[in-house]
Amino acid sequence: MLSIGERNVGWLIAFVLVLASIGGIVQIVPLFFQVSMTQPIDGLKPHSPLVLAGRDIYLREQCVSCHSQMIRPLRAETERYGHYSVAGESVYERPFQWGSKRTGPDLARVGGRYSDEWHRLHLINPRTVVPESIMPGYPWLEKNMVDAEVIMRNMKTLRKLGHPYRDEDIKGASSILANKTEMDAMIAYLQSLGTLL
Ligand code: HEC
Repeated sequence: MLSIGERNVGWLIAFVLVLASIGGIVQIVPLFFQVSMTQPIDGLKPHSPLVLAGRDIYLREQCVSCHSQMIRPLRAETERYGHYSVAGESVYERPFQWGSKRTGPDLARVGGRYSDEWHRLHLINPRTVVPESIMPGYPWLEKNMVDAEVIMRNMKTLRKLGHPYRDEDIKGASSILANKTEMDAMIAYLQSLGTLL
């Protein structure tokens, strides 16, 4: 005899949805209560105004379309890039830039790997320092200035979402960002990536 799910496709769809939801809930909900998933790792601070400005430019230029920021716990990855990525490193990432496309190398731990000057030359024209590179140049970062007003507004919004910025951090942003180019911000962001583990 055929069961009701086999005779009626509507019921079949409903059963599949219910079962898949239970599976999803069992896998996902416990993560909300796991400290290693929700708490920042030791020493993690919300991004400084300059780093935050650099991150905004990283989003605008869509660097994530060629670079992931997620080192998987596999030997080939950890030998090349360093300690695998942990959830506690991404607590102040909104939205996170984990990505999955790797036309270029993973950037999760690129902080401190090169000098500021290397990054400056590389971002203006990657071929200056890596002759075979296919990465596009971003020469306008040298000319555009960072807009402090926007970053201060961002900090206020992030504070509402739980990033522990103090009033003086937000007020201080305007002097920190005065006369800073987008290049300064981008380099500060890249140098901050993944240095805690
Ligand atoms: C079209 C794909 C592409 C895009 C878009 C792209 N990159 Fe790259 N990137 C590469 C490739 C390929 C390399 C490896 C060759 C090189 O070092 O230039 C690379 C290398 C790098 C490196 C050196 C990494 C290392 O460990 O050696 C950094 C830093 C970097 N990119 C930053 C950026 C930033 C910041 C952006 C956005 C402004 C960006 N890239 C956009 C393809 C890309």
